[in-house]
Order: sequence, then C-alpha cells, then structure tokens
Amino acid sequence: MVEKQLSMEFLRVTEAGALGAARWMGQGDNDHADQAAVEAMRQMLDEIDVAGTIVIGEGERDQAPMLYIDERVGTGRGPAVDIAVDPVEGTNLVARGVPNALSIIAASDRGGLLHAPDTYMEKLIVGPPAADKVNLDYPVRANLQIIADSLNRRIEDLTVVILERPRHQQLIQEVREAGARIMLIPDGDVSAAISVAVSGTGVHAVMGIGGAPEGVLAAAALRCLGGAILARFRPRDDAEAERARSMGIDLDRVYRTEDLASGSNLIFAATGITDGELFKGVHFFGGGARTHSLVMTYRSGTMRFVDTVHIFERRAVGVVRL
Ligand code: FBP
Repeated sequence: MVEKQLSMEFLRVTEAGALGAARWMGQGDNDHADQAAVEAMRQMLDEIDVAGTIVIGEGERDQAPMLYIDERVGTGRGPAVDIAVDPVEGTNLVARGVPNALSIIAASDRGGLLHAPDTYMEKLIVGPPAADKVNLDYPVRANLQIIADSLNRRIEDLTVVILERPRHQQLIQEVREAGARIMLIPDGDVSAAISVAVSGTGVHAVMGIGGAPEGVLAAAALRCLGGAILARFRPRDDAEAERARSMGIDLDRVYRTEDLASGSNLIFAATGITDGELFKGVHFFGGGARTHSLVMTYRSGTMRFVDTVHIFERRAVGVVRL
C-alpha cells in the first residue's frame, strides 16, 4: 500500500462521512446520522483505486446493508487494503449536538488491523512518554504514578478520561483515591485516545471499558502518534466470548498497540462532526461547509491537520473566510 498516495483519498472519505452525519446534529436520531455517514463514505470509498476489505465496520452482513465486515470496497484495481471504519464515533453525541463526535477510518496492508469482534475491551491508553512503561495488570495507582513520572509531575497533576458508565464506579473511586483528576465523557473514547497522545490537550490517560472495534481504531491512531493502548477483550456474555474465540481472540491476553494495528503501512483519518477539543466540527455556510480533520501515516510519518472548504453551490458562496 502506498500511504502517501492513499492518505488524501481516505481523508476525503471521513470528510464525506462527517458532512453526511453533521446534517443530523441535534436531531435526536442516531440511526439517520449513522446512515448518512455510511452512505457518503461508501460512495467515496468506491472511487479509490484499492482492493479494499472491511475488517471493522457496521457489523455482520445480515446486520448492515453497507460497510459490513468482509465487504469489498474500492475499485478493485489497486493494492489489497484492510479497512476499519467507524462512520460516526459517538452517535449519541451527534444526536444530541454535543462535542467530540468523529468520522473515522483506518487502513493498512492486508492483515495489518486486528479483526476485533463487536464486544467490549478493557483499555489503558497513554501518550508516548509512558508508552513502554505502564502495565494493564498493575493497580490503578501504580500506573498513574508511572504516567506522572513520565511527565515529570505528580499524580495530582494528571487528568484521566473515563467513559461515564455504572461499570466504572470502582475504577473512578480508585483514580480519585490515587489523587488524579477525572474527565467523565458521555461517549467517544477514540477521540479521547487521540487527545491523550497529543501534548497540550490537558488529558493524560484513558482508562476503563469501551468498545473493542474502537480499540483497534485507537491503536491505529496511537501507532502513528507514538502513544500506546494496552487492552484485554471483555465479552458481555457467553455468546460474545464464544464468537471472540472463534475469531482467534485470546481472552486472557493483553493486546498491545502493535497487536491491534500491526501493519507496517498504516493510514488513519478522522474528521470532526461536532465541535470538539481537537477538531472543529462541520460548519455549514451558504453554499458550502468547512471541515477539520487529522490524517496520519505511520511509515512515512506524517500528521496533517487539514482544514477544508467544500463548495456545494459555487454561485451561493460569496467570499471564502480565512
Ligand atoms: P457509538 O458511536 O457506536 O454510539 O459508540 C460510542 C462509544 O461511546 C465508544 O466511543 C465507546 O468505545 C463505546 O461507545 C462504549 O460503549 P457503551 O456505550 O456500550 O458503554
């Protein structure tokens, strides 16, 4: 796969997804927001010269009409590429019009993204300084101390992002007892993962249980950014455990960033749907819209923050703003 040539193509896919979903902001309709992003992304993907296979997408073939697992996408004429896609990461966020919803895609050479079942995953996500030092089996306080040391600060100077869920009651208590500050988020742990790996965002770790597919997408971003995710699959019931095992998942194993996103060529692209910490959301104006994205390549080591003006109706656009 040629990262450099394809990264801009994949960027266009998340831009299209975000533009589609953004019309549904605040409409209280998760499904239509998702559907709009799926349709727009699928259409854009089919213009790219790759023989693409969806490895993480909208579910199994019988659950989703498009972007389902094993679906072939692209023109079929280029390199074989595996694709993980989350058309709307944070459907509730879009439905409610609150911050940090993203449209996301990751691509690698064939076999470079783990085929993760749609179950839960316990995650510990840190930025580059603590990447090789934390351990998922250490107590919360020990990991916080390692992260604090790596950043030359005290535990009290750390902020940990945790999904606000009843299952995290114990974890929240342990983080509080250790002295760190907490940011509880309603949804969207991939966005939090990216923030943790970028200095100056004010957050230093993500802890807790979130979606496993989101874990693979976060891993692709973190390989590009140099941070780390440590993860263990956490099926919700026997059926999910059985399915995970049948897909070759070892439920006892701690998966590291490079186990989840192992490709030596990797592209990660995300576009903001609603305004957030890292990304502006889609802003519409008469005759067009503006999007804000991050597109990264692993091997060639590029990170581009991209501000794009999209003209839908040339005559309706007066002056383009800086
Ligand atoms: P959706 O976009 O599918 O709604 O998922 C958002 C999300 O918050 C993820 O960021 C997170 O990993 C997962 O859901 C957590 O799952 P749950 O809402 O079941 O706790």
